[in-house]
Amino acid sequence: MPFQIIRNDITQMHVDAIVNAANNSLLGGGGVDGAIHRAAGPGLLAECRTLGGCETGEAKITNGYALFARWVIHTVGPVWSGGRNGEAELLAACYRNSLERAAEKGCDSVAFPLISSGVYGYPKEEALWIAEETIKAYLDESDHDMLVFLVLFDKESFSVSEERFAEIQSYIDDRYAEEHANLRTMNAAASSKAPFPAGLFGSIKQKQASALCGSAVSAMAAPSGLERALNQIDESFTEMLLRKIDERGMTDAQCYKKANIDRKLFSKIRSDKYYHPKKATVIAFALSLELSLDETKDMLMKAGFALSHSSKFDIIVEYFISHGIYDIMEINNTLFAFDQMLIGGYDK
Ligand code: APR
Repeated sequence: MPFQIIRNDITQMHVDAIVNAANNSLLGGGGVDGAIHRAAGPGLLAECRTLGGCETGEAKITNGYALFARWVIHTVGPVWSGGRNGEAELLAACYRNSLERAAEKGCDSVAFPLISSGVYGYPKEEALWIAEETIKAYLDESDHDMLVFLVLFDKESFSVSEERFAEIQSYIDDRYAEEHANLRTMNAAASSKAPFPAGLFGSIKQKQASALCGSAVSAMAAPSGLERALNQIDESFTEMLLRKIDERGMTDAQCYKKANIDRKLFSKIRSDKYYHPKKATVIAFALSLELSLDETKDMLMKAGFALSHSSKFDIIVEYFISHGIYDIMEINNTLFAFDQMLIGGYDK
């Protein structure tokens, strides 16, 4: 995924370049500026002294010194003053100019903090939206394949309303508890009469194994049933994906860009009828195509996965799809609030 939102300390990122939210003097400060200078060591400040400062919205590049990153790109975000003084344009310019500096050095990977959203007071949600939109637009337009991370450091970076949080918490509690109750009864039953040797289905959970065995047993009892069951598997994940893109009247590019899947991965999928994607990739496409919950489960099954009520991530995704909400930002707000991996991103 060319653009990923992750939770981390940017000084720990193993990327070609990290971006510093600096001030016009480029002589260090607090927040992420302070953290980067501390981690890089005194050489960074010495080089910054030679740059003669930096205009707001502009970006300058230095070596990374003791950091994992080879380069540090210093950019100066706008100070929030109500939103009517060109702050949005200046903030977008920070991301664009920083990406230009990275491309000039041939960087394959760059990590950004959420510029201006700390000391400079930019409202976090708007700062996040501008960061996402500017980075995605740059990646769409540039033919330079670059992996861009937006590194969030604190929970305030994502906000989810109190009532949405409460609603989802109870949605999770209902299902999460139910799943664990089922597992308990099933384990009790399974220990008394294990229908099949535990190893027969490898890592498939007992419940799924019994369900699978159940259907397999009934299908074996009626050969035509097994034949019918086997015939159902002829539409693969790839075929369903391409069929849904056509049904939605989307182009391939519209679909994979909305799913935040890079071009190379999509062409790999398109050219392999039996491609086995990761679960996160299937979910990203389900959201991009705005599939119903049943269609999502069907696409997951074709890739060998299922939504599980023993995973809060899955329950939250199920909540949004069953409520017809496909906005990745909104879903990520909630996933972040529940300390879950984000869609289109991964934890460190
Ligand atoms: N890794 C990633 N993000 C971080 C880290 C870190 N180690 N430390 C802080 N952040 C986040 C903050 O939580 C915030 O979301 O970086 C974002 C930007 O906050 P600031 O660092 O305060 O930067 P900014 O709001 O752009 O203000 C710049 O602050 O530090 C001074 O010298 C700097 O004067 C300049 C001003």
